[in-house]
Amino acid sequence: MRIVHTIEAMRLERVQWTDQVGFVPTMGYLHEGHLSLFKRARAENQVLVASIFVNPTQFSPQEDFSLYPRDIERDLHMLEAQGVDVVFLPTPEQMYPQGFATYVDPQGPLADQSEGASRPGHFRGVATIVLKLFQIIQPHNAYFGQKDAQQVAVITRMVSDLNLPITVHILPTIREADGIAMSSRNSYLSTEERRIATVLYRALLAGQATFQTALDAHTQDTAARQVEQVIQALHTVIATEPQAHLDYVEVRDPQTFLPLEILQAPAVLLIAVHIGSTRLIDNFVLHLDGTWDTGMLTSHLQARR
Ligand code: PAJ
Repeated sequence: MRIVHTIEAMRLERVQWTDQVGFVPTMGYLHEGHLSLFKRARAENQVLVASIFVNPTQFSPQEDFSLYPRDIERDLHMLEAQGVDVVFLPTPEQMYPQGFATYVDPQGPLADQSEGASRPGHFRGVATIVLKLFQIIQPHNAYFGQKDAQQVAVITRMVSDLNLPITVHILPTIREADGIAMSSRNSYLSTEERRIATVLYRALLAGQATFQTALDAHTQDTAARQVEQVIQALHTVIATEPQAHLDYVEVRDPQTFLPLEILQAPAVLLIAVHIGSTRLIDNFVLHLDGTWDTGMLTSHLQARR
């Protein structure tokens, strides 16, 4: 595995490859969620590139950029074990040199609602860094997690809008045994907060059950009320944990991020919660074929029922 610190060195690597290149961008502090992306990318490409870069432009000044967990040595061991060929590890000065002035600024509900409303400028930072990484690495395939559903929608849209010759692959959320979505930010949680944090998953399960019952009932005349009932089902569960402070609960179209007025697939149930000083997000996606993308644990539970 080669470790590359500069854009020039990364370009020198890239020009040697004529085969299929797969790419997984990350901010490091890797966990099984990241590794699921590397496993899939390894199986589908001849050359596999990882990046680790905690991107300052996607954090607002009052967010956790300087606190964001980092453990490069551990990450590199994990990437080596996944058969990664090249790790791109640039510095902020490399990616944002003095005078940097050009951003990708996604517009509309996709970028300014849900996460975009709570974190203004976040998707501008994400789209800018991902486009820069795509330009430097020039992958054929890029892999992202459903865990960050709106990020996936923003990047898929950018790839289409800017005619990038890249296939975006979206993989399911990997969860801990108790349902909590794996996240580098889970390391901020105390033992008690970690227990409380399962409330996101429990709320989504309640929302999913209400959604499914309403869909099965086929009562289109009460459609608007049905969306409200799903949102209420999540609220009710969140309310059982007074230390979990709700940011938002929403039901949206996973491509456009417009709110759903009628309960139908595709749909994404979105939740963002503050627990202490940590902010956590999670989602479930209902696909057009009727399957729910909820991550591994639910499929295990369903298999046992
Ligand atoms: P990061 O949070 O490190 O996540 C890197 C990738 O791993 C993202 O595509 C994310 O959705 C995916 N991921 C995180 N947790 C996951 C889980 N539990 N299951 C499955 N996939 C999971 O997302 C970013 O970094 C940054 O915004 C980035 C795209 C690198 C741009 O800076």
